[in-house]
Amino acid sequence: NLVYVLNGPNLNLLGLREPEIYGSDTLDDIAGMLDDRARELGLEIDMRQTNHEGVLVDWMHEAQAEGARAVIINPGAYTHTSIALLDATKAIRTPVIEVHLSDPLQREQFRHISYIGMAAAKSITGQGAKGYVVALEAVASGEI
Ligand code: DQA
Repeated sequence: NLVYVLNGPNLNLLGLREPEIYGSDTLDDIAGMLDDRARELGLEIDMRQTNHEGVLVDWMHEAQAEGARAVIINPGAYTHTSIALLDATKAIRTPVIEVHLSDPLQREQFRHISYIGMAAAKSITGQGAKGYVVALEAVASGEI
């Protein structure tokens, strides 16, 4: 009942970084919130952050090797650039849920394309930190 929750570049600065866009919760706040909800849902989360694209690819492979139920991932700006993350999503059988705090479609044109979104089982945007909880609930309910 393990769920990987992966976070990409600049999300280590959450809470300080453009709070008018991303909110005031830190990544640790979100991890705490997710841990509480996971316990209620009978799931276990492994939450991580890296600023490096290849590390996200490695962790997606690891999620499958560890038999995780799902990967919840906020790839940050790699969403809009990374064919490697799209390919990793296609390469693993583990379902991938894409989460964004903001709604990229309401922002600059260069954020409108999501490569990973082309293969993700579900995309959750514009719900702030709560989006991660919504993703976890989709796993628990069997929707994903
Ligand atoms: C983000 C949206 C991306 O466009 C941006 O590069 C981020 C955060 C979000 O959570 O809203 O780093 O993924």
